[in-house]
Amino acid sequence: MKAENYTGYKGLPPLVGLHTMSEALSRGLTVMDSVSRLKRYHWTAKRLSLIFTSRITAMPVYELKMAFSLHAHYLAEHVECFFNRVREMRQPPYGMDKTPHPSLDILLDEVQNAPTTEALVLGLYEVIVPALTRGLRRHLEEDNKLFDHPTFRVCRMALLEFEEMEAYGQKAVACLADTAARTQYADWLQLLQDLLDTMGDLDGTQPQQERSITPVFSQTPYEYKGYPARDERFRDVFNMGVNAEAFLLDPSFEPLPKTIMLYFKRMREIDVPEMMSSIITETKEKPWLYYKDMIRQLWDEARHAMMGEIGFTSLGIDWKEIPLNITWAYLLNTRMTPRERHSILYFIEQGLMPAKTGKQYEWEVAVSTANKLSELIQDYDWADEVLHARIGRDWIVSELGGQTEAMAFGNEAWSKALGNSFDEFEADKKTEHANWWPAIYRQACTHWGIEPDPKVLDYQTTYRESRPDQVDLVQEK
Ligand SMILES: [Fe+2]
Ligand SMILES: [Fe+2]
Ligand SMILES: [Fe+2]
Repeated sequence: MKAENYTGYKGLPPLVGLHTMSEALSRGLTVMDSVSRLKRYHWTAKRLSLIFTSRITAMPVYELKMAFSLHAHYLAEHVECFFNRVREMRQPPYGMDKTPHPSLDILLDEVQNAPTTEALVLGLYEVIVPALTRGLRRHLEEDNKLFDHPTFRVCRMALLEFEEMEAYGQKAVACLADTAARTQYADWLQLLQDLLDTMGDLDGTQPQQERSITPVFSQTPYEYKGYPARDERFRDVFNMGVNAEAFLLDPSFEPLPKTIMLYFKRMREIDVPEMMSSIITETKEKPWLYYKDMIRQLWDEARHAMMGEIGFTSLGIDWKEIPLNITWAYLLNTRMTPRERHSILYFIEQGLMPAKTGKQYEWEVAVSTANKLSELIQDYDWADEVLHARIGRDWIVSELGGQTEAMAFGNEAWSKALGNSFDEFEADKKTEHANWWPAIYRQACTHWGIEPDPKVLDYQTTYRESRPDQVDLVQEK
């Protein structure tokens, strides 16, 4: 029977449907070729994941912070898959901790150091991410799905998520990089293309071209910036005037207005990716599993922030009117060591576990309002925070010598970080800690079609009266 007409028993697809017989006998990459491509995706995914992570804090645009969190997570997850597949192919994983081509590191360094948001989105989403998906597509087209089936799976799964990244990235570039930015960075974008040409494209399958390369932004090493920048929609970012935890835990208030505080707490969680970015970037030499776990948690925290955004929208409240402060990330990033920051995060997240005051309590508040949306939000927030407590146990408790030691270290570090910041920010004229609560509560009452309760309206406990480092009033992270 000729290959073109080849079928299985009673017409069953041959080769379990992976290929027709003609395809199977005419295509395939050698083990060496497949491995050499995988090594390039592996290195790119690893470094790119950390680049996305590192740029979250000082890059001001909220939506992009969220997208960087997701994209860092996608990449971090696939690093391990690429790595494991290489190990299966008669290749001990030697040399996988260094770049497979010097031009690849220059390319990544250039984007790591891109000086503006415009340059960053152009470099990430118009050059590197498309080069990565182009390589994966080519791999899937040329490889023999039967001979190299495990690689086919790894690449197919990665491509699914990387194409989503690419599609979002195209939109981000269209919204954020105008003609002026393109003109400004035209030479630099050409340099990035030249780098790809010298390495035979990102996957190394094309002829390697001679180009003269002069690095632009990567002539000096990357320096992490820990000040949490926000775009112009955010205002009064040092305001600590409304103590959400004290209100939530006060039994004399009804559950309904508490949902506003829950949404506030959720959306304020933007500051957790902004802080975790600094721990991840400044903690070196950990196994990849550490970075994968931490970046997963970082993405969860970004999700929680967007849950708050959804919550506010459901109440017809414009979140831009609420001071979503940067104080926690600011204090930790600029005044504490990475280890202190991580212990503070751990201490706070452990404080969310007790049923009466923690995540379960927040979920019960939501359930008692019979609002499906707030219930869902708190349900997943709770589930995620349980995972985060586990991640903390795995990575910071062991480093600090045990649970008791970690809690004591975290508690002390947090008091030190917080210091007298409430008064300090006021004295430095960073904020007046204005009470934003009554106006927002009124808006929600209009939405609900009820009269504001004078006692709720009058709420004015700040973070001065009730410091968030008190164990029973833990500020959620
Ligand atoms: Fe949360
Ligand atoms: Fe968390
Ligand atoms: Fe959180």
